Amino acid sequence: MPATALALLLLVGVSAAFAKKPNGEMAALARQGRALAVRLCAQCHAVDRSGSSPHPGAPAFRALGERVDLDTFKDQLRNQFSSGHPDMPTFRFSRADARALTAYLRAIQGE
Ligand code: HEC
Repeated sequence: MPATALALLLLVGVSAAFAKKPNGEMAALARQGRALAVRLCAQCHAVDRSGSSPHPGAPAFRALGERVDLDTFKDQLRNQFSSGHPDMPTFRFSRADARALTAYLRAIQGE
């Protein structure tokens, strides 16, 4: 029945549009996080999907998942994050910034 087929098509179209939305938001958050990484961390860390760190001792962000638990990293950033390394300054992030930076780190892991 054509009417049913049309309704079905519409339904698929609508749910596809809904399914896309969270991804779009995620990407925007990660882009925000990338801007933070570039501004605050890129002086020492490789913050992109390729390239090496300007500071030889600083791990590349795309491999950070091997060093820190990204599930708790957001909270670490909120509570004065420090690597314990004298070369690395201590950071304290707002909740929004911590979420954004963590989203970006997740997006580039293993690249
Ligand atoms: C002035 C240089 C410098 C800047 C700026 C810097 N870092 Fe680092 N970071 C380092 C160095 C050096 C290490 C290696 C520390 C070690 O191996 O003990 C490090 C290590 C780390 C680690 C790994 C810690 C661990 O437990 O292995 C994380 C996570 C990290 N930095 C995050 C950041 C973030 C996020 C920023 C920006 C907000 C940043 N760093 C800015 C120099 C820097």
